[in-house]
Amino acid sequence: MTDTLGDMRRTHHCNALGIADKGSEVVLMGWAQRRRDHGGVIFIDLRDLQGITQVVFNPDRNSAVHEKAHAIRNEYVMAVRGVVEARPEDMANPLLATGEIEVMVSELKILNRAETPPFMIEDNIEVNENTRLQHRHIDLRRPSLQRNIMMRNRAAMTARRYLDEQGFLDIETPFLTRSTPEGARDYLVPSRLNPGSFYALPQSPQLFKQLLMISGFERYYQIVRCFRDEDLRADRQPEFTQIDMEMSFVGEEDVMAVSEGLVSAVFKSVLDVEIKTPFDRMTYHEALGRYGLDRPDTRFGLELCDISDIVEGSGFKVFSGAVKKGGIVKAINAKGCAGFTRKEIDDFTDFVAVYRAKGLAWIRIKEDEWQSPITKFFSEEEKKEMAERLDMQPGDLVFFGADQPAVVNEALGHLRVHLGRKLGLIDDSVYRFVWITDFPMLEYDETEKRYQALHHPFTSPAEEDMDKLSTDPLSVRSRAYDLVLNGTEIGGGSIRIHQKDLQIKVLQTLGMDREEYEEKFGFLISALDSGAPPHGGIAFGFDRLMAILCGNNSIREVIAFPKTQKGACLMTDAPSLASKAQLDELGLKQVRMK
Ligand code: AMO
Ligand code: AMP
Repeated sequence: MTDTLGDMRRTHHCNALGIADKGSEVVLMGWAQRRRDHGGVIFIDLRDLQGITQVVFNPDRNSAVHEKAHAIRNEYVMAVRGVVEARPEDMANPLLATGEIEVMVSELKILNRAETPPFMIEDNIEVNENTRLQHRHIDLRRPSLQRNIMMRNRAAMTARRYLDEQGFLDIETPFLTRSTPEGARDYLVPSRLNPGSFYALPQSPQLFKQLLMISGFERYYQIVRCFRDEDLRADRQPEFTQIDMEMSFVGEEDVMAVSEGLVSAVFKSVLDVEIKTPFDRMTYHEALGRYGLDRPDTRFGLELCDISDIVEGSGFKVFSGAVKKGGIVKAINAKGCAGFTRKEIDDFTDFVAVYRAKGLAWIRIKEDEWQSPITKFFSEEEKKEMAERLDMQPGDLVFFGADQPAVVNEALGHLRVHLGRKLGLIDDSVYRFVWITDFPMLEYDETEKRYQALHHPFTSPAEEDMDKLSTDPLSVRSRAYDLVLNGTEIGGGSIRIHQKDLQIKVLQTLGMDREEYEEKFGFLISALDSGAPPHGGIAFGFDRLMAILCGNNSIREVIAFPKTQKGACLMTDAPSLASKAQLDELGLKQVRMK
């Protein structure tokens, strides 16, 4: 049997007692973190959301209560009444906020019992993540996760306060809707009332926030869930949260200024860190050139260097052949790394293979000698130019990639970050923000043989490039911008198309005929024709931002109930099969069983 609260009313939290409270009677409630039985006297670390207090059951003071305390096990829920006493000096615990005191218990209520937890409620435990996710309600009791969830709340409250002060209205948008293309697959929801028809869960509120601008709301925001059926990674969840914003009568500068204000307010309130604004800016072209990725980690050097022009005529066919086929050759000088073993170099080769690199050539510089299987292919002139451009000094190790630009940039871009970590060049206490601008508007999808929007199809082309839309679509830049923090894309947005004719032209460039764009986006096109103001906005990946603020690598650490890499919720065992009756009602037929 367990007790009910009765007349017990909590007077304090478990972190809030100190030596000044000596002699006061207090009531605490929480969980038994740990129980120690020292030859009669029982000590329990009582835990609540705020902290821990040691409570003491002494048979000489109160034998009935002491007797009752024998039943307590880890994670039992309890309420105690008692008097705050100073601990004997040699028993004080300087690691605990309440380490100078303890509560001598005069009344105990065991409010609930608990099975032995599957793992200790402590940080730095060795438990596999699936076990943690299966028992997430228990996992969430651990101090680091409680801290993360509280920091997340603080960040959300700061964002709301900031945006409210800036005149943004919090407006909800539908979840049961039509497809909103952001480049991922949709989650579909069958409609019982319209058998055979489906809603799509929104990949973002993109079209609704544009419609709100057309409705005259001028400044919208929402902290909102988005749904994307895509391959999951440490920084991707099938449902994730955006701080989503849209503004009327603005250009890029306005959106960026509000964003910088928002991000610095959040950093100030959550970490008490001052972020310097305005943030740096870099074009997409420059980011790829120097860092290989459009989300450069600018906290360290090791920049990529293009040497295509030096080696295009060289005797090393891997290099000259790549350039002839329209590819490039780039290099990274890992300063002072000539000591890397062959095994380490081979591991780097395996590392870049994941990014489709066919190899990773290298040159090790020992004194005045170049040690490498490929040195013999280069002329003295080529070697001299390479040495100069790459600043090759004795002790250096240079890596080379040769292939189509996309492959070289991606492989060396990731290699750079990998090397930066391995060499300890990355200072995790630094926050380096950079806006990436001047993205190409379109990319060509080789498998589908058509153009795709790099951001989304509602992003405006740059004014200067407008006339190239028909003649040279791939050279058209868009008015999109991404915010990158320490190598993570934490936000992205754009100035939108607000004129019907231009929107139709862009949809046509993407390969849609009239029937298709009318069917999919007719409502938007007609809204654009009803007096649409110029507008633009941005969405921040709230989970990614929180992971960085909390110092975690995975966004699963900052989401109360995340899903696994396979999109499963291990606690509720979703997704699950539907019953035949449910399927019948929806007009669906199961053709393939699990
Ligand atoms: P975008 O698709 O760039 O833009 O998304 C905005 C930000 O959301 C985060 N993000 C994710 N976070 C976790 N899991 C995911 N699966 C995931 N996908 C994206 C990223 C990204 O920068 N409607 C536009 C915004 C706009 O144009 O205003 C949009 O959704 O941090
Ligand atoms: P091979 O001629 O295949 O023996 O390769 C000689 C060296 O060039 C090896 O170190 C390979 O890893 C490297 N290599 C092969 N293909 C590429 C490539 N596409 N880019 C960079 N290095 C490569």
